[in-house]
Amino acid sequence: MEFSIKNSNPEKQLCDCVIVGVYESSRLSAAALAIDEAAAGYITSIIKRGDMDGKLDSSLMLHNVPGTASERVLLVGLGKASDFTDKQYCKAVRASVKALASSGATDVAIFLADLSVASLNASNLSTRRKVALMAEVILDASYKFDSIKKKPDDSKKEAAQKGLTTISINVAVDNDMQTAQLGLVDGQSLAKGVSLAKDLGNLPPNVCTPTYLAEQALAMGASYGFAVEVLERDALEKLGMGSFLGVTQGSEEPPKFIIMHHMKGQKDQKPVVLVGKGITFDTGGISLKPGSEMDEMKYDMCGAASVLGTFKTIAEMNLALNVIGLIPTCENMPDGRATRPGDVLTSMSGLTIEVLNTDAEGRLILCDALTYAERFEPSAVVDIATLTGACVIALGHHASGLFSNNDDLAKELLQAGEASLDRAWHMPMWDDYQPLLDSNFADIANIGGRAGGSITAACFLSRFAKKYEWAHLDIAGTAWKSGKEKGGTGRPVPLLTEFLVARANKT
Ligand code: BES
Ligand code: MN
Ligand code: ZN
Repeated sequence: MEFSIKNSNPEKQLCDCVIVGVYESSRLSAAALAIDEAAAGYITSIIKRGDMDGKLDSSLMLHNVPGTASERVLLVGLGKASDFTDKQYCKAVRASVKALASSGATDVAIFLADLSVASLNASNLSTRRKVALMAEVILDASYKFDSIKKKPDDSKKEAAQKGLTTISINVAVDNDMQTAQLGLVDGQSLAKGVSLAKDLGNLPPNVCTPTYLAEQALAMGASYGFAVEVLERDALEKLGMGSFLGVTQGSEEPPKFIIMHHMKGQKDQKPVVLVGKGITFDTGGISLKPGSEMDEMKYDMCGAASVLGTFKTIAEMNLALNVIGLIPTCENMPDGRATRPGDVLTSMSGLTIEVLNTDAEGRLILCDALTYAERFEPSAVVDIATLTGACVIALGHHASGLFSNNDDLAKELLQAGEASLDRAWHMPMWDDYQPLLDSNFADIANIGGRAGGSITAACFLSRFAKKYEWAHLDIAGTAWKSGKEKGGTGRPVPLLTEFLVARANKT
């Protein structure tokens, strides 16, 4: 897909389709007005007939509109002009892509980034931001995962949808084209990371193994020029990562511990460390999961995928910040040698862990990674994990669960979530919950019972994150979609990118 930035007249666009917005109560955007004038009131007459009411998520495709150079004009509903916020704006862009998908248009000119868009902090979105969001949403909505389907033969291919190939994003005339261009790079960079995170999540677990993830990280480091190390089982044994090793014990696939170094900040700047849960398949182990929808446990490496995706994005952006990525990755399988409920593991920190449920494995691989993170003297550590079903019950599929031992860090992440429309919700992690993890036989148990399951999981991790500012994102409800639209979402790459960009701008 090729993007360009323009400021031109909508009625003079020589292309397959011109996209313009219409508000509720028959109010035309400037671009719709220009078309209406060129077409001697054609748009107004259509609205009067009641065929387009300007509601958000609605659209109407028009053909051969008089006085215009393009083959089609797509009217997109913008909703009420008074509450046209960044969220509405993204919805209108998404509705445009959806409407275009059932047309033959491949070369389009879109006139929505010239609209004025309100944002949460009251000031209007900058052109850079509007262009970035537009590219991001168009690429997100056009994403397809068909690389492992049998290729259609050529005759069918011709008949099939070609999809969008060329998009010119039009901005208001008085704009600095160079800043708009920066927005395009922002949006495209983010989309690349989001798309990688989706791909890794969607790949089947017999392809996307720990070894595969390690290879992807190494290849990415080589192509962008950042350092990547992969620790093998013997190195993990030497480090004393008994908790991580306890999880991988029942699997034939070798575990990997991936370390990525994006060191583009000042030499003495303390790094941000991102830690991603990389369980490439979670059967539950000996505490075996029920069979229904177990296939979805291939998504249990989406925390890892979000770290890899974010590294791709910040590498594309050449972001001036020091960031370390840590990915403990293995499978959780039942086997004659697998860890049993009742087994006690010794973590790298020295704390012993009674495994009461082998299905609470995410925290067992993360805790050793959190201990490993200490050596980087981090300014902050953020772990990302599809950690608990309880988080899905608490927050559904809209917000990721956010837990932290530092309120300022929590605020930063919440803010990044709002700004990137990839929201998180701050959950409590009071000391009152900690005794639920008491064990009669070890320093700590790996589960705390059904009540407050996402909180006790976070409490478990907090025991290993005492030496730095730390936050935990439980993405069990946000990393993928189930049902007919089953697939990875690429979340929370937008949130993490926004967080890191804001940090880079502060220093
Ligand atoms: N990967 C799962 C969490 C999960 C479950 C994410 C369903 C998304 C949908 C995790 O490893 C797990 O199994 N957690 C257990 C913890 C329990 C045993 C304390 C859970 O949530 O049931
Ligand atoms: Mn599990
Ligand atoms: Zn899991």
